[in-house]
Amino acid sequence: MKIQVAPSILSADFGKLNEEIASVELYSDRIHFDVMDGHFVPNISFGAPVMRCVKTKLPLDVHLMIENPWKFFEDFVKAGADTIIVHSEACRDLKAILKEIRGLGVKAGVSIKPKTGISAIKGVLDLVDQVLIMTVEPGFGGQDFMEEMLPKIAGLRKCGFKGDISVDGGINERTAKLCIDAGANIMIAGSYIFKAKDRKKAIMGLRV
Ligand code: DX5
Ligand code: ZN
Repeated sequence: MKIQVAPSILSADFGKLNEEIASVELYSDRIHFDVMDGHFVPNISFGAPVMRCVKTKLPLDVHLMIENPWKFFEDFVKAGADTIIVHSEACRDLKAILKEIRGLGVKAGVSIKPKTGISAIKGVLDLVDQVLIMTVEPGFGGQDFMEEMLPKIAGLRKCGFKGDISVDGGINERTAKLCIDAGANIMIAGSYIFKAKDRKKAIMGLRV
């Protein structure tokens, strides 16, 4: 599978968001958009009105770290989302929610926090285009990668999941390689890319 890089704009300078995106666009495959509500995770980031202002030709992945995510699907679709990723922990009827996302004409993704096992999502794998494995506790950029998450990636491939597997949190040149070896194909990285002196080099380094 082709390795893709998705810069997470959580670590970008929001005051010049479109310039920040332009600085990585040429070398990246998609843009990762972290939505946080201060309830599902202990931090607040941004919502659909900010996404609407984003100018990019790349697909936009929306990672919803919020309670009651279904209330906001339409807003994000209207704002230009290509994939909507929900947390299994935030959804009582995960199957219905994933079907609803696809019904809106966008791709569906599901994410699990570090303490959630892949058994929580095994029953919905045929309803998702992307599984996002959190490799840190969601909420903040700049945390250390949790190596204990690697078996989840291998486990998903063992189950026969052929869709995209993304990894999110603490991704750098070293940890990307571990994830790729385990079977992941989308590298989501925030601080590693946006804090790098040479962003192009940082992005290329994730495709190892
Ligand atoms: C964390 C977010 C991540 C975050 C990753 O809750 O889901 O996308 O931006 O940041 P880094 O790459 O700095 O760990
Ligand atoms: Zn994310």
